[in-house]
Amino acid sequence: MATRYDAVLVLDFGGQYSHLIARRIREQGVYSEIVPHDIKSYEIKSFNEKLNLKGIILSGGPASIFDENAPRIDDGIMNLGVPILGICYGHQLLAHITGGKVERSNVGEYGATYVIIDKPVGVLKGLKGKVKVWMSHSDNVISLPCDYEIIAHTENSPFAAFMHKGKQIYGLQWHPEVSHTENGVKMLRNFLFEVCGCNANWKVENIVDSIIKEIRRDVGGDKAIIALSGGIDSSVATVLAAKAIGDRLTAVFVDHGFMRENESEFVRSVFQGFGINLVVVNAQDRFLKRLKGVVDPESKRKIIGEEFIRVFEEVAERTRAKCLIQGTIYPDRIESGFRRFSDKIKTHHNVAGLPTNIKFRKIVEPLRDLYKDEVRRVAEILGLPRELVYRQPFPGPGLAVRIIGEVTREKVEIVRKADKIVREEIERNGLGGRLWQYFAVLMDTKTTGVKGDARAYGYVVAVRIVESREAMTASFAKIPYEILEKISSRITNEIPEIVRVVYDVTHKPPATIEWE
Ligand code: XMP
Repeated sequence: MATRYDAVLVLDFGGQYSHLIARRIREQGVYSEIVPHDIKSYEIKSFNEKLNLKGIILSGGPASIFDENAPRIDDGIMNLGVPILGICYGHQLLAHITGGKVERSNVGEYGATYVIIDKPVGVLKGLKGKVKVWMSHSDNVISLPCDYEIIAHTENSPFAAFMHKGKQIYGLQWHPEVSHTENGVKMLRNFLFEVCGCNANWKVENIVDSIIKEIRRDVGGDKAIIALSGGIDSSVATVLAAKAIGDRLTAVFVDHGFMRENESEFVRSVFQGFGINLVVVNAQDRFLKRLKGVVDPESKRKIIGEEFIRVFEEVAERTRAKCLIQGTIYPDRIESGFRRFSDKIKTHHNVAGLPTNIKFRKIVEPLRDLYKDEVRRVAEILGLPRELVYRQPFPGPGLAVRIIGEVTREKVEIVRKADKIVREEIERNGLGGRLWQYFAVLMDTKTTGVKGDARAYGYVVAVRIVESREAMTASFAKIPYEILEKISSRITNEIPEIVRVVYDVTHKPPATIEWE
């Protein structure tokens, strides 16, 4: 980054809302990054070479300060001289390390709670009376040293918000970053602009040129290669890299045969339009061969992932590329970097995180600091077609994980046709924009039906249509019956092998979005 943007660091204690804090800050035009809570103060100082550190936020988290190895912060952080805001666990930790007292309480506060504003200053500037906030805690701050004062309380939390009388240190027991907290954005803005004195000069628009320059610098005079999936992240990384190094870039699109209808043609037409060196590898037969007889979903994913890497490596070797460019985005990095405690539900074969045996001199990740919506903004700035920018997510292993049981050529054809019908009907009715995903899944059972005057015995297709914000949770979409009816009759009319269509009415959780 050429400009030194004002920035606020979020020290992550593992809270489910840590990401939201950084997001909300960036929405205000101030750059923010999430770092592990045990970051050392000297590391923070070196961070300051790139950015202009204006404040630190200690996030919430699942721990209690009474836990044996309760997470702490490096002692030097309190002496860095930048404003600090503790949220939830961060609030309790600040009280604990500055000589206050925290106790375990029998009466927790969960969900919407009313706080009374005692002193509308600093983070609480401009607020008064009762404010509805979102709480989620059982430990409670019950005393603070005399250089601190209470600025808000609730019935059960006498120190629901506090501040230091001389230094810029604040604690909030509630979560200003969640939308259920009334005036939560105002509280965060107060911290950014009143307390930290930030300049709102961070904008995605400003950084496109510097990303291109960075790629040019990192790749140097070498050749580079990128695995292009046709999804938004690798597409944006490809266009940026091509702008940076021109024909020294080779983009590789591996068609494993489980793509949606017209996918290779779509990718080819978009990227040839950008004058990009694109290699489309038709590897359909070798993937099908490797999947023969395989029914277990995790084995399918593993085999497809491995085979993908083999194909990619073969092309990489031929191009003599020294650099690998990847479309890794910020949440990918956070997930794999230091938040290792989430349970493995399924192996996501993610082209962006492609491991490889080939020794590259360098791995370049131009989108590593951006969130998805910021990547979309970059895509728009680069002139990528809307169809690509707002397309629904599609899993790396493709239609292979939308065929329950063994994958055969015949079944791929069936599910591809059904997928096309679902997409056409949803998009024709203008619903695409508000839905996260809409697709068809082919069952491995056959059932009886009647077509014409004859008995038919054929496959079942499940239609899955969901609404979601980040795919962590999802709800089945309550779309009009008439549209479902049209989808169902088109599928059974146009695909002779199908006699029955069912609609999946399960949320995530307990189901996942994909069926395998
Ligand atoms: P689940 O099925 O876990 O999916 O609820 C969450 C989101 O991830 C997509 N998905 C994948 N994406 N490789 C990917 O790149 C995969 O193997 C994969 N599996 C699921 C899914 O489509 C949904 O958007």
